[in-house]
Amino acid sequence: MRCPFAAVAVSMILIALAAGCGGTPESVGTGSTNSSLQSFFAPGDASLAARASAKGIVYGAATTPNALADARFATAFAAECKVLVTENALKWRDLSATPYSYDFSAADALLSFARSHNLTFRGHTLVSHDTVPGWFQATVTPENAQQVLRGHIAGVVGRYAGQMHSWDVVNEAVEPSELEPGGLRGSSPWYRLLGPGYIEQAFRAAAEADPKALLVYNENWLEYDTPYCGQKRGAVLDLLAKLKAAGAPIHALGIQAHLDADLMLQNFDAVGFRAFLSKVAALGLKIMITELDVRDRNLPADADTRDAIVAGIYHKFLSVALSEPAVIAVETWGLSDNYTWNSTYYPRSDGLPVRPLPLDDAMKRKRAWHAIAQAFDSAAPR
Ligand code: G3I
Repeated sequence: MRCPFAAVAVSMILIALAAGCGGTPESVGTGSTNSSLQSFFAPGDASLAARASAKGIVYGAATTPNALADARFATAFAAECKVLVTENALKWRDLSATPYSYDFSAADALLSFARSHNLTFRGHTLVSHDTVPGWFQATVTPENAQQVLRGHIAGVVGRYAGQMHSWDVVNEAVEPSELEPGGLRGSSPWYRLLGPGYIEQAFRAAAEADPKALLVYNENWLEYDTPYCGQKRGAVLDLLAKLKAAGAPIHALGIQAHLDADLMLQNFDAVGFRAFLSKVAALGLKIMITELDVRDRNLPADADTRDAIVAGIYHKFLSVALSEPAVIAVETWGLSDNYTWNSTYYPRSDGLPVRPLPLDDAMKRKRAWHAIAQAFDSAAPR
């Protein structure tokens, strides 16, 4: 389904870009022959990981064993990334087909790839409203839920203890539209069974199982200047403040940043987003951009025009994000356009392949790659 903004989106693009949402119209370009290909040109062959690392930032991407079975993709992944994020392999639903059984083969394959290419490993995600296994509902009760939560975390985190850069301990626990106290997601099975305390319990269990990993609270819809995102930012800040006040072992906020091009062009307020980052940092937390990509389903069909707009959005967003020294990591949700969740979840109505990531499907560096590289090159060291 097309976004309600679609009808106005394209005509708004140049206006929004001129207003500072991705460089000048000249720099972003509007056609395949436009000379502005240079505008996000990052000289040199250095990878995204190397450029980020030069500033004390970790760059990596989420992936799957299926994508890594493609030798060209695997080569590009090892060349561009420093951290491998498990896109699905460590979700409980993907690990456990029958009660309390675990099949770690997919996650172990990813870890093996990471180790053999000198990449760090990042776990996504231990506790989320949408990752419980099919058997959960019939098996987990208010009486055993705490024990089940602790057992799951101890088993999964313990297995990879000492080998993880970071863990998304709790994912998407805030949903203000559900009108629960604190803006928490009342429909989460964990909330229904354990109440709001499940979040702190999860962080404590993760820290016990791996005292070395960075423990992250990961959340979506924090990026735009809309009433909904405003509510979400407020509820997330309250939650983080409460966790810190309780002494919970939480180290970072993960901002997913699945950027919607329409919303970025019309509803991204750099000042407001920057102020939000400052408030998170003031709580003593680091910040990670955890699932970055740019949804291009309503952008013009012409690939070069689309790539230019997507690149502008990457550059604008990262320039603001990286101006906050607490931002220590950037991970894209995939690396190349042919392995992206957007193809399934947000396909284009014209049937053209989506182009949301830094590399194209031939592993060629796109304008988006140059925009990200340039944002890393311009970032202050941390
Ligand atoms: O594993 C089964 C496979 O056995 C089956 O044949 C196939 C048929 O559809 O489905 C496979 O499962 C799919 C799974 O990805 C693994 O490929 C699911 O249908 C599909 O819904 C699932 O989508 C994932 C989605 O989370 C839901 O878990 C996406 O790949 C993944 O990119 C996406 O990631 C989420 C983050 O966890 C949280 N933040 C938002 C982000 C994007 O939605």
